[in-house]
Amino acid sequence: MQQIQPCWLRTLKLQNFRNFSSLNITVPKDPIIIAGPNGIGKTNILEAISLFSPGKGLRQSKLGIIKKSDVQDQGWFINADFEHQHQDLNIGTGLDLSTASERRIVKVNGEKSSQTALNDWIKILWQTPQMDRLFIDGMTIRRKFFDKLLVNFSPEHSKHLYRYDYALRERSKLLREGIMDQKWLAVLEQKMAQESIAITANRLDYLSQLQGFLEQEIEGFPKIAVSLEGDVETLIHENSATVAEERLQERLCQNRSRDSVMGGSKIGAHQSEFLVLNLDCNQQAEVCSTGEQKALLLTLIMANARLLATVHEVAPILLLDEVVAHLDENRRQVLFNEILKLGIQSWLTGTDVQVFEPLRKHGHFINLNER
Ligand SMILES: Nc1ncnc2c1ncn2[C@@H]1O[C@H](COP(=O)(O)OP(=O)(O)OP(=O)(O)O)[C@@H](O)[C@H]1O
Ligand SMILES: [Mg+2]
Repeated sequence: MQQIQPCWLRTLKLQNFRNFSSLNITVPKDPIIIAGPNGIGKTNILEAISLFSPGKGLRQSKLGIIKKSDVQDQGWFINADFEHQHQDLNIGTGLDLSTASERRIVKVNGEKSSQTALNDWIKILWQTPQMDRLFIDGMTIRRKFFDKLLVNFSPEHSKHLYRYDYALRERSKLLREGIMDQKWLAVLEQKMAQESIAITANRLDYLSQLQGFLEQEIEGFPKIAVSLEGDVETLIHENSATVAEERLQERLCQNRSRDSVMGGSKIGAHQSEFLVLNLDCNQQAEVCSTGEQKALLLTLIMANARLLATVHEVAPILLLDEVVAHLDENRRQVLFNEILKLGIQSWLTGTDVQVFEPLRKHGHFINLNER
């Protein structure tokens, strides 16, 4: 196995963040257990850590909502020191109300940076109770979930998604408003075709890397197959990339009148569907029981953690909110062993400290009641 590059959070400081006026914690690399009653702030701490990656964090909240509600005229800020590949790394982020910007500011080692750049430094994976509906809700949510995981491996992927989305929206606007500017439509459709092929190739490559880890036997956890289906995938399977792109552009052109009535686009990378199959019972994830779905999701998250750690040699930080309590004792023990074996920093929350007892020797316990 290759040498995994350590990356873990050492100190975390919160200011005006959710229910915390201020919080300052220092932790080791070991698994961190935050146990305490409902509403004490466990998920808020994980949310803060999730904001050291690009995007809106594990709650997908608007920036303004995060600010401690009884504080006026001030923003919220979070700051963390990491050990990153044997070097010190400091990241700060937050919402600064003294500027007109509604975007969150990001500073890396004191220098102004961007959200996108965070992905070059820190990889964060999480599972939360809000994700329980991942296999039941529409395909868009699932696609966004996988695309977000993929960005950990290929930061360029988010640029392709952005460019695709822009071209799709522009074309939809023209068609909706009946502006049949042939030249401009052709440019947008070429962009959509080009980006669809790049996005789909990335997705297929990622899934082929992930699949080996999804099939690995982890005692008590289901084995999974993930596939990607859609018109673009069929075009890619049947043609070279150049021909697939040309065909796709032709189809987009043919679909103009249909799309102007129906809105959006009938074909393209935004129509692909990620299908998750539970190999143990040969059932699609959507028909599996709630408990089985939670286990499937955990298998997926852990497979991504192992892929990052072992193939890409970067240690992700793992946030598991309310996950452990739902596992039976055997699965819990297997999960703890996996976490310790991988040596990645993991943050685990729950209301019942008892379920974390097997980690008593190896874990760092935080009791928020005592703060
Ligand atoms: N912007 C905000 N300002 C002040 N308080 C907030 C804000 N947003 C959320 N809270 C409060 O933070 C508290 C802690 O929330 P959190 O979800 O972290 O609790 P928890 O410990 O994870 O609880 P549970 O065990 O129920 O999941 C809640 O009481 C919530 O009302
Ligand atoms: Mg919570």
